[in-house]
Amino acid sequence: MTHTDFGGRTVIVTGAGSGIGRATAERLLADGAHVVAVDVSHERLDDLAASHASSLSCIAGDLVDDDTIARALTAAGDDIDGLANVAGIMDGFEPTAEIADATWERVFAVNVTSMMRLTRAVLGPMLRRGSGSIVNVGSEAGLRGSAAGTPYTTSKHAVNGFTLSTAFFYGPKGIRCNAVAPGPVATNIEAPFHSEWAAARVGPLMQVALPPTARPEQLAAAIVFLLSDEASNVSGAILPVDGGWAAI
Ligand SMILES: NC(=O)c1ccc[n+]([C@@H]2O[C@H](COP(=O)([O-])OP(=O)(O)OC[C@H]3O[C@@H](n4cnc5c(N)ncnc54)[C@H](O)[C@@H]3O)[C@@H](O)[C@H]2O)c1
Repeated sequence: MTHTDFGGRTVIVTGAGSGIGRATAERLLADGAHVVAVDVSHERLDDLAASHASSLSCIAGDLVDDDTIARALTAAGDDIDGLANVAGIMDGFEPTAEIADATWERVFAVNVTSMMRLTRAVLGPMLRRGSGSIVNVGSEAGLRGSAAGTPYTTSKHAVNGFTLSTAFFYGPKGIRCNAVAPGPVATNIEAPFHSEWAAARVGPLMQVALPPTARPEQLAAAIVFLLSDEASNVSGAILPVDGGWAAI
């Protein structure tokens, strides 16, 4: 593992109870950061805290609720160096004609709207200090149309637009904003097929194009790099971390 120095720095990590978020939180803790770990699962945060007592603040709550965002900001204090927007949910591989409103709304609420609200809240303290780094977790589904259902695919394309727009507006204020686009990663995310048509359409493509499944730590390495001063001249990047899938 390479080492980046986060001594004395505070970073908020969402989805920190599992998978990519947990690996990111653990890597930042190992590199000396104070980590504010946010997750809807109390149990997963308890598990994280059991092995990382120091420099860790855990906020259990749904990011769709304003209260969760307010508690994360309070725990982080006035000096917030970084934000890793990792939390996200999949759809059921629904193509457009089969989308239930509830699925669309929940996927957008978690993957897009809560990301915007937390980033908006964090920009206050970052702008007062004139520095900060934000990393959003998109997806291979944000680079193509064939890696998920329509709700998730659309939400991850929105993450890319949100990343570019935030980088554009706040670059002159000392704030960087980037995204990573993972391919398949071994985590607890659920990706059920609720559509026969989607299974028939996507299945054969996945068998040909899907790269080997990555470890969460491989994603954390890219996220931590973008959060760190090592990436001081990188902003507005959508970085595929997908074993080369985007090159196909
Ligand atoms: N695993 C993959 O193959 C893959 C591929 C591409 C992109 N991604 C993206 O990576 C990110 C992390 O996913 P993961 O694979 O580590 O999944 P995961 O399910 O293992 O972890 C996600 C965590 O986010 C939390 N979470 C979900 N909704 C939340 C909410 N509303 N409020 C607070 N916490 C919430 C969950 O409780 C969970 O602990 C997501 O944005 C996902 O879209 C994952």
